[in-house]
Amino acid sequence: MATNNDTQNEETALHNERLRLMGSVLTGVAHDFNNIMTVILGYCDLATSLDVVYTPNYCITQIREAALRATKLTGSLLSLSQRGGKQEEFHPALLFQDIAPLIAHLSKTNVQIRMEVAKDLYHVKADYIWLEQSILNLLLNAVQASSPESEVLVRCYNVEMQDPHTFCVGCYVPGKRQLETGAYLVIEVEDYGCGIAPDVLPRIFEQFFTTKMSEKNSGIGLANVLNIVEAAHGHICVCSKVNQGTTVRILLPQIEGKSRSASN
Ligand SMILES: Nc1ncnc2c1ncn2[C@@H]1O[C@H](COP(=O)(O)OP(=O)(O)OP(=O)(O)O)[C@@H](O)[C@H]1O
Ligand SMILES: [Mg+2]
Repeated sequence: MATNNDTQNEETALHNERLRLMGSVLTGVAHDFNNIMTVILGYCDLATSLDVVYTPNYCITQIREAALRATKLTGSLLSLSQRGGKQEEFHPALLFQDIAPLIAHLSKTNVQIRMEVAKDLYHVKADYIWLEQSILNLLLNAVQASSPESEVLVRCYNVEMQDPHTFCVGCYVPGKRQLETGAYLVIEVEDYGCGIAPDVLPRIFEQFFTTKMSEKNSGIGLANVLNIVEAAHGHICVCSKVNQGTTVRILLPQIEGKSRSASN
């Protein structure tokens, strides 16, 4: 029979778990907010730089888009604190349409970002805004790991998983959930940068783990990505070789039926 003490202990444990979750959600939001502010400040600089490609009008539109993204991010704060975020069905082409201007902005760092988005992609179910932020986090990591004038590739394609044991062989897979046979959407970010040492690889998804010296890097990016992908019942694998580069692959299960459609 449960005693008053047991019930109290259970309540305290639940409360602590809720606090811990809120803490990690808030840190995540602060981190992603920072990324958005970087975009806004970048376009503010461009707007005043007399660049013929980045006209003030174009920059203001991008600033507006980034500000809207920030608003959505805070809006999804509550839903994420209830675990899983606001799960909705959508077509991935829509997602890549939305992040293209951000990618264009990141490309200005001398590292070229190339996007290869296949046709007839599977619909998926995830928290749209958080998934968008996840891709941005992966791209930022890839750009930061790359040397100037190199290339980063972001790909999106479908895969029919017949034998999960043959997928991501030799790569690091965080979490304990087994990949099952079935249809998946793959979002992949590949760079040819510094790579990740084998002893560092098992730690990269830990919250606050970073090998970067800059104050701007808090080691939150990948911890966020893992949370978001797991909430969408997806998987991640990281394949990396020191001095050769890194590929991070997100797999999201295909969703049947109607959903938000892309405009292209
Ligand atoms: N593409 C990559 N190439 C090389 N190392 C990487 C790559 N992606 C992640 N890492 C390693 O994983 C660590 C953790 O990444 P994560 O994105 O969580 O944090 P961060 O980038 O250091 O900081 P933040 O994301 O908070 O700015 C990085 O510090 C780096 O050592
Ligand atoms: Mg990062």
